[in-house]
Amino acid sequence: MAQQCTVPAVRARKGGDPLVMVTAYDAPSARIADEAGVDMILVGDSVAMVVLGYDDTLQVTVADMAHHTAAVARTRPRPLVVADLPWLSYHLGADDAVRNAATLIRAGAQAVKLEGGRKRVDVIEALIDAEIPVMGHIGLTPQSLHAMGGFKVQGKDASSARILIEDAGLLAEAGCFGIVLEGVPDQVARLVTEAVDIPTIGIGAGPWCDGQVLVFHDVVGLEDRILPKFVRRYASLKAEGVAAVTAFAADVRTGRFPSDAESYHLAEGVSLGDDIEIGALYGAASASGR
Ligand code: KIV
Repeated sequence: MAQQCTVPAVRARKGGDPLVMVTAYDAPSARIADEAGVDMILVGDSVAMVVLGYDDTLQVTVADMAHHTAAVARTRPRPLVVADLPWLSYHLGADDAVRNAATLIRAGAQAVKLEGGRKRVDVIEALIDAEIPVMGHIGLTPQSLHAMGGFKVQGKDASSARILIEDAGLLAEAGCFGIVLEGVPDQVARLVTEAVDIPTIGIGAGPWCDGQVLVFHDVVGLEDRILPKFVRRYASLKAEGVAAVTAFAADVRTGRFPSDAESYHLAEGVSLGDDIEIGALYGAASASGR
């Protein structure tokens, strides 16, 4: 059996074999990720948009994240389970952040991820002090949607690229075991990756990161409304699902489902007797409120 992936094992992969991370928000997707042999499962706050139907990630709470983290953790997956600290769960002070992160750890996460650079250093140090491993996330940080003026690629000029490189260094110094780099030019991601001694995990950040992460529903094609430039779709499960449910509906409507083989039968020799009258049974059931 493959070994459990741990925080030190991920940390030690800097510059080695590329790390693979995929999101999962429930037991079936966690089992698929596990059987596929990924290194890390991210219970991302993208659950808000991908599963819960919101327009942004700002709507999910610590309770929502704990609910989905627990569903993933119950499958006892081999990949490391990283859970996102949602918006406003680490912005109101270190004590609050540690308490919220502890809720996710008790739900089954082995590490938490939070968004932002230098302004998060104090909180990261407090989490690490409480023995909670932290993954950073810089570049396009979806929780800063309104401050950024939309989901926009970051680090597109020399000064913002320099800030990203400095921020990555500060997160590494604060003790993060890895950093997600989202939505940055590939050359900038390369410089960040070279600047830090912890793995960078890219999404929309080109090929030179130490690993890559994608959203599960994008990879398997359960989400087919938008196809961002950085997504590669490896299956078309939404289309297959629509075809399957369409076929089920047609079979029900034409009487082809269920078949004899898909129905239960009385055992041989068991008779319901001649005295059962359907009308009388129906009357008794309605009288008893069933
Ligand atoms: O929530 C999420 O899915 C993420 C990834 C985009 C890295 O944070």
